Parts: sequence; C-alpha cells; structure tokens
Amino acid sequence: MGRFSILSIDDLSCEDIQNIIDISFSMDEVLGRDIKKIPTLRGKVVALMFFEPSTRTRISFELASKFVSADTVNFSTAGSSIEKGESLIDTIRTISSLGVDFLVIRHNKEGVPHIVAEHSDISVINAGDGKNEHPTQALLDLFTMMKRKKLKSISDMKNLSVSIVGDILHSRVARSNIKLLRKLGVKINVVSAYTTLPQGIDKVFDIKVKNFIDEEVLESDFIMALRLQKERHAAVFYPSDREFNFFWGLKEEQILKLKDRVIMHPGPMNLGVEIMPAVAYSELSAISEQVRNGVAVRMAILFYIFRGGKIGID
Ligand code: CP
Repeated sequence: MGRFSILSIDDLSCEDIQNIIDISFSMDEVLGRDIKKIPTLRGKVVALMFFEPSTRTRISFELASKFVSADTVNFSTAGSSIEKGESLIDTIRTISSLGVDFLVIRHNKEGVPHIVAEHSDISVINAGDGKNEHPTQALLDLFTMMKRKKLKSISDMKNLSVSIVGDILHSRVARSNIKLLRKLGVKINVVSAYTTLPQGIDKVFDIKVKNFIDEEVLESDFIMALRLQKERHAAVFYPSDREFNFFWGLKEEQILKLKDRVIMHPGPMNLGVEIMPAVAYSELSAISEQVRNGVAVRMAILFYIFRGGKIGID
C-alpha cells in the first residue's frame, strides 16, 4: 500500500479535509503572486498516468506539480510498452523503479488506483476511476463552494444545501461529492431519471432523491449539473438528448431568475444537453472558478501528501 494515498473520499478524515482546504487558500494566494511557485517539492517527481481522456484534471495536476517545484512525467498508453504486452502492474513497478514519488492515475476501470497503490510503495492519487470516484474533483468543488460563501471552516458547510442533477448512476463526481458533502452534514438532493439513479442511494447516504427539478432544488444554495456519461452507458438510459434537456437540463427560464444561487458543473459540458450556454456563462455560474480552483487544490493535495499530513506553507 502507498505511504499516503488519496484513492477515495473515505481515505480522508474531517481534519484532513480542513487541512487541505486551509492549504488550498494559501496556494490560492501563491497563484495570485507574480512568481507563482513555492520550492517545497523540489527534486520530487510526479507521474501523470491518464488511461482515459482529460483536459482539466491532467493539466491542473501538471501545473500544480510545477508550481510546487516538482518535476513531471506524462505517461500515455500509446507509445508505451503496454502496446508490447506489458501489464499495468509491471508498468507501475517500472515507473516506481525509475524514481517517481507521486502517481496520479485516471482509468476507465473502477478500482485500478487501489490496485496500483497495493502494488507500489509510492503515493497514489485517484484522478477518476470509471464511475467510482473522483476525490480531487470533490475537494475542488468544496473549495469553490467555500470561497463563494466566504467560509473558512468546513463545519459551516452543514447549513448549506446542494442539488446534483443528471446522470448520477455513471458519475464518479456525484459519488465523491455526495460522500464528501455528507461527511460535512450538507443537505443533498439528487435529481435524475429513475433509470440513472443508483438504487438505495437515499438510504445509504441519507439524501433526498427526486425525479424532476422542483422548487426545493431551485432553492438549493448550489445546483450542480452533470454530463450524460455516454462512454459508460451499456444501454439506452434516455430516449434522446433533447428529452434529457427538456426534463433535466438547466435552462435559462428556470435558472436566470434565481438570486444568490450558484450553478456548478465539473466539466466537460455538453452545452444544450445538461446545461444551456446562457446558464453556463451566466453570473450565477462558478464553472470557470471550479477549473481555476483545481490548480490550488491539487497543489494543496501534493503538498499535504508530501508533508505526511502536516500543514504550514513555506
Ligand atoms: N472534471 C474533469 O474531470 O474534467 P476532465 O475530464 O477534463 O479532467
């Protein structure tokens, strides 16, 4: 097992979460400086292993690594010895032997980051495994919510409500966000067609399940839209994108009249399906902030793991 890995929100105590948020605020301040770099991880190496497409997570981890002075190596299956038949485990052993200190991994199969962590002694960070979890996305979403509400303590999150709308069944973002926000006592509604609602999710996480967007959803402090995860659909879950948009899309006539509500989306967006462009680019939207905050939060995560759970920035 890796020395200190973040494979799931389950790996983090409330103290860890508060510490990562505190460091994220410090890193956010570093990113506002002329020279946005601290020396803490000088001489350390971060391997970015993405077996599935990514823009935000891969680039923000690469920038975050550089801003804490770590070196990075990018691994992609194309051109690697996996094409010659080398197994994933042998690939991980090889990368470990090459002197890598952190391994950031995304894979389309659930549990791969856990297997990798079991077969290496380096710290592993789950950058998304199938429809299971995406813990660093949930942490950056929490940081974005706290910045919007000008909160410093995670204990103040319990007064807020979040509605998550869309394809819950196939969403690792939904799973990690629900786990994280429920740990903090946040009230959650999930809104989805019956076909994409995990059975029993209301009882497992003590959350409210709805089939349609109603007044209570529109009164939530945060409304998070999710993409239809078609790459993980083994069957037809909705008649068409148009039908999905009609029932579960965030549309201007519902949303733009709201006051003091925040619209979120982890990206990538399918504009015109789960969210209309006028909503995504409105003043209520925190979508660009989510992307920007991803760098500070991932700097904080690398820093926190490197320090073995201690805080205090150089
Ligand atoms: N939110 C997210 O994980 O985006 P990418 O797939 O672009 O990394």
